Amino acid sequence: MVSYGEFPGARPRRLRSTPAMRRLVAETRLNPAELILPAFVREGISEPRAISSMPGVYQHTRDTLRKAAVEAATAGVGGIMLFGVPEVKDAVGSQGTEPDGILQLAIRDVVEEVGDALVVMSDLCLDEFTDHGHCGVLDAEGRVDNDATLERYAEMAQVQADAGVHVVGPSGMMDGQVGVVRDALDEIGRQDVAILAYTAKYASAFYGPFREAVNSSLKGDRKTYQQDPANFRESMRELSLDLAEGADMVMVKPALPYLDVLRKVADAVDVPVAAYQISGEYAMVEAAAANGWIDRDRAIMEALTSIRRAGANMILTYWATEVAHRL
Ligand code: PBG
Repeated sequence: MVSYGEFPGARPRRLRSTPAMRRLVAETRLNPAELILPAFVREGISEPRAISSMPGVYQHTRDTLRKAAVEAATAGVGGIMLFGVPEVKDAVGSQGTEPDGILQLAIRDVVEEVGDALVVMSDLCLDEFTDHGHCGVLDAEGRVDNDATLERYAEMAQVQADAGVHVVGPSGMMDGQVGVVRDALDEIGRQDVAILAYTAKYASAFYGPFREAVNSSLKGDRKTYQQDPANFRESMRELSLDLAEGADMVMVKPALPYLDVLRKVADAVDVPVAAYQISGEYAMVEAAAANGWIDRDRAIMEALTSIRRAGANMILTYWATEVAHRL
């Protein structure tokens, strides 16, 4: 008889032996309720536009956005994160603060359509609205002006709240943005609107397809405000600041290349933690699968499971509705 400890006494393979056994002992499960669908709505189009670098993702019309939101809600998805693409962009991103700007209209539409079933979130950032493509306004030397940008964010927070949004997602990585947004919301009596802070947001090459999704005209990069991929401790500092400034939830972004950061953030906080599986993470899987190089469905589930395993309570993913159906 083989006793425990005698080679090969321990046989971990027993627990991998059948699908039923593997299902029983799985430590990590995905739930549709913790998925958030990022969605783009473009002003002035009558048909949805395909985004070539994100096969299956569209710039929606107001109408098709409503449909996508209903579909997500029906599938059991937990939330939707809205991005607006205005017809006209300018230096200060005026359309981001017009009460009838495309993002505000979309918020109203989606809240009216599915506001009871989905948590409605909005990107609170200027890059979709500026003609130079930066996440803030520029000073005379062409540098992103932190404090002038904060004034714009405060105004954005208020118009988005007026439109009925449940959660705002300040994603511009300006210093002090969470505190300024909290104050701006409280000032107009909107203590009820929550803040999902983009806490650790890295200057990533994987945002590439997003630029097409929002018709960005950015030249150059965002390295003076987004974090250096080489840095880890900096994320802990951003985390402390965001929590001190009143973040209700915190996010790590991108997801898969930053699972170490995600794990550490998840261990450190007592607020919900989100991770954003971004456009490039989506595009890589779709492109490889289209070439027959990987099994698309398995790759999607593996990536999402890994993000969940690393500690995310919520995952923003362009596959949210599809995956919710599958679960
Ligand atoms: C900024 C913002 C970006 C993304 C979400 N919010 C672009 C950026 O920071 O460059 C990227 C999301 C993605 O790539 O899927 N408004």
